[in-house]
Amino acid sequence: MRLFIAIELPENVKKALAKLRVDIPGARWVPAEQIHLTLAFLGEVDEITLTCLTEALTRIRIPEFQLCFSGSGCFPNLHRPRVLWLGLKQEAHLLDLACRVREAVQSCGIPQEDRPFSPHITLARLKLSPSREFYEFIESTKTLKIPSLRVPEFTLFQSLITQQGAEHIPLRSFSLDSLCSEN
Ligand code: 2AM
Repeated sequence: MRLFIAIELPENVKKALAKLRVDIPGARWVPAEQIHLTLAFLGEVDEITLTCLTEALTRIRIPEFQLCFSGSGCFPNLHRPRVLWLGLKQEAHLLDLACRVREAVQSCGIPQEDRPFSPHITLARLKLSPSREFYEFIESTKTLKIPSLRVPEFTLFQSLITQQGAEHIPLRSFSLDSLCSEN
């Protein structure tokens, strides 16, 4: 099965982010229910590797942390935008979590890209040259205030490719260490 590991967002946050949608020519916006923060993309994984993976992910110990939004941007660059995203502050625990997750994935023999983790939430995929509406969107999100949110867990997802598009099925969530237990 085709798998990825991500931070699931609360329903109200997903709905609020989906409302940022504007009319950008050539944009295919991510449906509200599929908006997430990818930590690692695994691709096709067999059952034996899945068992190894869930064990490795269970061993990750990172404290809960806050996700703080910081404007928008795109991959690969502003002149040739293909993926439009909302950025997140490079919070130490978030970077640690992504690093531990990728190590766990690699320890089960699943290769990972060498590119450094760049925390983002994909909002839309673009297939045309950048338009005025695209640049206006990037500009407008500079002053956007989205409340930060607490991350209590991360989730292993299956991505099922159907005729209607991808469906994301949560398979298992892994708790981060609760801050309350430190008192
Ligand atoms: P992104 O949108 O956060 O960049 C589930 O398919 C998620 O895995 C996508 O949302 C995407 O993350 C990431 N993904 C999908 N296909 C990928 C690929 N071929 N290489 C890397 N990441 C991929």
